[in-house]
Amino acid sequence: MRTGAILLCAGKGERLGRGDKALVPLCGRPLFLWSLETLERTAAIESITIVGPVKRLQAALALSATPVSKIVAWTEGGRERQDSVARGLEAMPVEFDLAAIHDSARALVTSELIGRVVATALESGAAIAALPLEDTLKRSTLDTIEATVPRAGLWRAQTPQAFRRDWLEAAHRDTVGRATDDAALLEVAGHRVKLVRGDSSNFKITSPEDLELAEAWLLRQSAGSGARNAER
Ligand code: CTP
Ligand code: MG
Repeated sequence: MRTGAILLCAGKGERLGRGDKALVPLCGRPLFLWSLETLERTAAIESITIVGPVKRLQAALALSATPVSKIVAWTEGGRERQDSVARGLEAMPVEFDLAAIHDSARALVTSELIGRVVATALESGAAIAALPLEDTLKRSTLDTIEATVPRAGLWRAQTPQAFRRDWLEAAHRDTVGRATDDAALLEVAGHRVKLVRGDSSNFKITSPEDLELAEAWLLRQSAGSGARNAER
């Protein structure tokens, strides 16, 4: 099979409050360039389709002078995330029969994780990155606890999420409701979706605090690699 990534950059970033989230600077570079560069470096990814405000994304990419060789298509996004994924699937060239969907809001994703999710999806047809829940969960109405919910067996879904393209397209075609991720559509269609252990650094940048956390994480990482280089 041939794997094409669909990089989602069409969100409005309302909770971050700084305009189109994909273009908000993270350590001085537009947010979407971080995961775009990681996808470029990942051997398991053959092509990249970018979904979002095409002209502005292309201008930001050109300005950054980031070398890219895998981008095969660009398309505007849709109203909801699910609509943007559907647009990406329409735009991705037909020869790519495994689709790896990634949120550009998860800017700190690693090549290693993308590689593991794609490898699992190549074997099983469908796989997503996810992390087991560690917090104790409470159910409440207003501010009073009604129950403690057992967390055993509960996971938090991340991206990348990789699926056989025919399964994903059929799931999008047949769906009636709304889902917050693509795995949910495949589950409803009766497919078994594998879980691949994600990374805590692969969190979704949603709020201003998340952006600060991502910057701190990148600074610590570059300080670490600087120190390692100095030791050589
Ligand atoms: N996304 C998209 N198209 C949409 C909505 C979301 O491509 N219509 C993408 C975003 O670009 C993001 C990912 O889906 O990479 C996860 O969405 P989220 O974190 O909710 O981003 P936003 O929708 O931009 O943020 P907000 O909900 O705060 O407006
Ligand atoms: Mg959103």
